[in-house]
This record gives sequence, C-alpha cells and structure tokens, in this order.
Amino acid sequence: MKAVVYREYGPSHVLKLEEVEKPTPSAREVLVRVHATTVTIGDTIMRSLNIPGPFWQRFLARLYLGFRRPKRTILGMELAGAIEAVGDKVTRFKPGDLVFASTFGVDFGGYAEYKCLPENGVLAHKPANLSFAEAAAVPGAGQTALQCLKKGRIQPGQKVLIYGASGSVGTNAVQLAKNHFGAEVTGVCSAANLELVKSLGAVKVIDYSREHFTQSGETYDVIFDAVGKLSPAQVKRAREQASIYLNVHADSAGGDKLENLLLLKELVEAGKVRPVIDRVYPLEQIIEAHRYVEQGHKKGNVVITVENGGKTY
Ligand SMILES: NC(=O)c1ccc[n+]([C@@H]2O[C@H](COP(=O)([O-])OP(=O)(O)OC[C@H]3O[C@@H](n4cnc5c(N)ncnc54)[C@H](OP(=O)(O)O)[C@@H]3O)[C@@H](O)[C@H]2O)c1
Repeated sequence: MKAVVYREYGPSHVLKLEEVEKPTPSAREVLVRVHATTVTIGDTIMRSLNIPGPFWQRFLARLYLGFRRPKRTILGMELAGAIEAVGDKVTRFKPGDLVFASTFGVDFGGYAEYKCLPENGVLAHKPANLSFAEAAAVPGAGQTALQCLKKGRIQPGQKVLIYGASGSVGTNAVQLAKNHFGAEVTGVCSAANLELVKSLGAVKVIDYSREHFTQSGETYDVIFDAVGKLSPAQVKRAREQASIYLNVHADSAGGDKLENLLLLKELVEAGKVRPVIDRVYPLEQIIEAHRYVEQGHKKGNVVITVENGGKTY
C-alpha cells in the first residue's frame, strides 16, 4: 500500500511517499481503507522534534517517540474511511461501514491507504452529515477541546473566554462551549479570524494584536487557553480574572476515549459542532501540508485526502 513514512527527525522533506506492506487485521481488529486524515501541529512537532521549552521536554519526547529515530514511522493521528475487512471476533463493525477514528493510542498511521484498528478503540461510525474529509478532522481537536471544557464544569449562561479561538482546538471549543455547555462565549484571535470565530457562535471577539484580554478588567467563569500561547505573566492574570483557568496542554490528558468520540458524533449530527476546514491536500502533497501547518496560522484544520480508485474525497 501507499504510505507516507518518516525514518528520521527533521524538516518536512523527511516525509517520503513509499510502498509498504498492507496490514492484516487480527481477530479483534478492523482494516480501514483510509479516505482522509489530517496534519496537526502535533504531527509537525513529532516529525521535527522541534519542541519548545526546557531540555527535559525534548528528552521525554524522544523517550516516547524513539530516541535516535522515530519508532512509529507513519504519522496521522485521526482518520476517516471505510471498513474493508474485519477479524473473526469483531462484532461492532462489518465490511462497508463508514467510520472515523483517533489513532493516538495505536501508533498513529493515518498517512496511509490502510490502517488496522482494534474494534474497541476510539473508533465509531462516521457522522452521517459529514464528508470523509470533514469527519477526519473531528477526533483529535474535538476530543481535546471537549476534555478540557468538561473540567470547567460550565453551567448554562456562564461566561467563557476561549484564547486561540481560530485553531483546531479553539474552533471546536467555541462551538462546544456555546452549543453543548450553553455558555456565553468570548473568542480571542487575530483580526483575520474575527468573522470566523463570530460565525462559530462567539458573542464577543477580541483581536489579540489590538487589545489584551488580561488588561481589560473583565471577569469570566472560565478562561481556556486553547492554543497554549499565553505567557506565564498572562496566565497569572488570567487566573485572577476567572474562577477556572484551563490550558490545552495541562488539561487535555485522558481525553482520547470512545465516550468522547461518540458524544462528538452526536453533537455533529445534531448540528451543534462542525469542523472548520482550512485547506485540503492530497497525500502526495503532504510536505506542502506540513510546511503550511508548521507556520502556526491555520484556521481550524488541514485535511489530507487519500486517493481511492482515482476518486478523492
Ligand atoms: N489539535 C489537536 O488535536 C491537539 C491535541 C492535543 C494538544 N494540542 C495542542 O494544542 C495546541 C493548539 O493546537 P491546535 O491544533 O488548535 O493549533 P493550530 O490549529 O495549529 O493553531 C493555529 C491557530 O492559532 C492561532 N494563533 C497563533 N498564535 C496565536 C496567539 N499568540 N494567540 C492566539 N491565537 C494564536 C492562529 O491564528 P493567528 O496566527 O492568525 O492568530 C491559528 O488560527 C498545540 O500546542 C497543540 O500541540 C492539539
């Protein structure tokens, strides 16, 4: 099968489109024909090992990803596709089922034509109202935003500020905070994204290049830094402005679970959450996609389509 493989850390051209062995599902696995996956900022960090922060963070990353070279050579933390085959003991799925999934706990692998997934993994039937490209963009950032906001114990009508409202996590967080938790949402983003964030349901939007919310004197029930870019001094002020301060890095652990994916499917099908797609690239242009994502300015998600018999989705 065709897959994008990386065998060394480095710039985007370490990604190589190659022929690799097609996987075979074991008794409790399904074989998914991948139609779409995504490039996230996390993928670009795992590829480059360009990890901000102290030395020990790079050390821990190497322990997890592979000390000298990557242990998991095919990136891609979320996908959507069709089930092509199932193992003998699989009961939840059958060939032909359309699915979407997180591959975070199963060695990634979305940048390929096929991926085997455990039937009891973070895998569910695709939301009926989304294309493969849209569905592939839901699991990662959707679950991350949901997990963080759950920790906010948000009550209907409460005031929630989302910092970094235009990224993958941020665009999910604005919609979830408003349409699932019933909050009154303020979004913080750059001028170019004010209209987008308003269209997702924020009642107020703040352009961070003109005005810093931490200097406004305004108070909130919850402040969520969805992009992880507030400085320590700004975090200190944010903590004084809100009863609960949430951070995408500190508060998202444990979010990758079937229960969260199923809730997102329900919310998507009810029209309460819709993934924002910035750009779509074919698998063959993965290097261009990585170059775009690592600039750090994408709006919502960048999707990769995997050609299927001449048709792309
Ligand atoms: N996506 C996931 O599934 C996931 C899962 C777990 C953890 N995370 C972590 O969560 C963080 C955010 O991820 P993401 O995927 O949402 O990132 P992203 O989509 O790559 O974020 C890019 C967005 O952030 C905005 N932005 C950049 N600098 C900003 C700043 N200083 N203040 C406010 N907004 C800014 C950019 O617009 P402008 O440049 O125009 O402002 C752009 O719209 C990352 O650290 C990531 O590693 C992500």
